[in-house]
Amino acid sequence: METPTYRYNLDLLRQTIDVAIEESSRYGYNLHYAIKANSNPKILETIAQRNLGADCVSGNEIKAALEAGFLANTIVFAGVGKTNNEIELAIDARIKCIHIESFEELLVVNQIAANKKHIMPIAFRLNPNLDAGTHKYITTGVSQNKFGLSTNELTEAIRVLPTLSAVELIGFHFHIGSQILNISKFADLAAYASKFYSGYKHLQLNYLNVGGGLGIDYENPILNPIPNFAEYFEAFANNLTIDNHIEVHFEPGRSIVGQCGELVTRVLYIKEGNERSFAVVDAGMNNLIRPALYQAKHSIYCESSSNEYTEVYDVVGPICESSDTFGSAIPLPKLMRGDLLAIRSAGAYGESMSSRYNLRSITPCLFTLKQEQLVM
Ligand code: LLP
Repeated sequence: METPTYRYNLDLLRQTIDVAIEESSRYGYNLHYAIKANSNPKILETIAQRNLGADCVSGNEIKAALEAGFLANTIVFAGVGKTNNEIELAIDARIKCIHIESFEELLVVNQIAANKKHIMPIAFRLNPNLDAGTHKYITTGVSQNKFGLSTNELTEAIRVLPTLSAVELIGFHFHIGSQILNISKFADLAAYASKFYSGYKHLQLNYLNVGGGLGIDYENPILNPIPNFAEYFEAFANNLTIDNHIEVHFEPGRSIVGQCGELVTRVLYIKEGNERSFAVVDAGMNNLIRPALYQAKHSIYCESSSNEYTEVYDVVGPICESSDTFGSAIPLPKLMRGDLLAIRSAGAYGESMSSRYNLRSITPCLFTLKQEQLVM
């Protein structure tokens, strides 16, 4: 097997989607897969086949979603820095909704839609000032963050809205962060959104988008391969008190694809340092940047040996940066050059954040149904 390689288990992906659909449809909720988590074409096709919508943050993501078979009227488009070209693309494709993140953007979208003689459905993204309590780089809903309209901009936006003829406000959008395992944060968001909507009854809204953010179990992926969607959606159902006719939308990314992918890598060298043993592998932070960027811990196992895990290694990559480390003091069997390791829970924000730093090759990928079966 060529390494490093992303290996995806499409069976697990389908099972995960099915559970997410089953649990959300109890309440009539709508799901838009957050493409940024993993935009591999085969993954996108698999998700589109299950009729989920898509959440996009660039023009290229909108194109990838359409190519994979997502229907335009299920695509929503967010992002603090949309270019004119991207806004035009979204309007031309007749996507469901643009999430507006600033007052100035509102005016630009209205102008571009007017030029095209189209009335574009929009939602205002708001910052609920709720601390999701995750890593600071993936907490998005507190007031210091760049996301969403501030209170002043919102007041101004609502004031000028009647003068803007080419946009139609359908609702509000919230997203408080990612890898959230404390379900009470979602209950807080639902309560906040409900209170907020009660103040805007006169706008006759029919759309509420509460973003994504449900976390996965990085410590015990084998025990918990599918996130607890039942508990997640129930937290919203129990705490949302908005009118029944308002559609509720979600944007799950990590919770859909996180556990279905592993990064398979080969041991190049075993190096005995002065204080520790290093397993130098052929994957680097360019293939999977999460440990370097967020100090994320991914579980690592050896798939070429069935010996007991009697040793500990620092598993490090070949890149010229000290942060190019997948984990310290990782329990593993005694390793040799050529052994295969797999870094688990790498389906979300793994391949999609990979780069060619150090001019390394693009990470290839392969797909399995059951662990052994290959489908190319
Ligand atoms: N909706 C919006 C507006 C978002 O910004 C995000 C993620 C999502 C939905 C999907 O969130 P999820 O369900 O995946 O938590 N690269 C980081 C995560 C960045 C998340 C960015 N926004 C990581 O590897 O942990």
